Amino acid sequence: MVRVAVLVSGGGTNLQAIIDAKAAGKIPSAELSLVVASNDKAYALTRAANAGIKGVVVHKEKDEDIAHYGQRLLAVLKENAIDMVVLAGFLTILPENVIQAYDHKMINIHPSLIPSFCGAGFYGLKVHEAALAKGVKVTGATVHFVNEIPDGGDIIAQKAVEVLPDDTPEILQKRVMEQAEWIILPRAVEDVAKNMEV
Ligand code: GAR
Repeated sequence: MVRVAVLVSGGGTNLQAIIDAKAAGKIPSAELSLVVASNDKAYALTRAANAGIKGVVVHKEKDEDIAHYGQRLLAVLKENAIDMVVLAGFLTILPENVIQAYDHKMINIHPSLIPSFCGAGFYGLKVHEAALAKGVKVTGATVHFVNEIPDGGDIIAQKAVEVLPDDTPEILQKRVMEQAEWIILPRAVEDVAKNMEV
């Protein structure tokens, strides 16, 4: 079975969707082996603990060289024999050494239909603020492989979500999570893991 690490920075609702899908038998090809948080306040760590998944914090220090941070993160992934990495609301930009080590074995969930509202500076609520400011009538979520270009890797799955007239960024964020992210991310974890097994 493919050993998966989920990297998180915040609430961890996407992590929860993966945990729930695993418990429901929908991710037979992967084992949820590790949760790595970028900060010790991430509620995702509590979700990991509740599910019996090992959780660790790997924080990029303020003046730390990015490649050095990458080496520390890689060491943790290696110690835990991690085959595949899932970025689920992970807000630290990853260095090249980490991205190269998991080429086509690292996926990310982004809360828009890439190539709209993506790239540097587009994360979390900012994405939905930008979508509403533009006046788009349809948005959604994308799962993609991670490469050196922010949100630029090969697309694995997308799902569209309607924008409604009275939407606030918060309301739209919740709809995109419920109708797209929490559905396509667990599916993509299984699809990629299954492909890696063969
Ligand atoms: C999710 O909406 C995810 O798509 C987004 O952060 C949120 C994390 O929520 N990620 C990005 O914006 C990455 N560019 P969660 O911690 O509840 O899963």
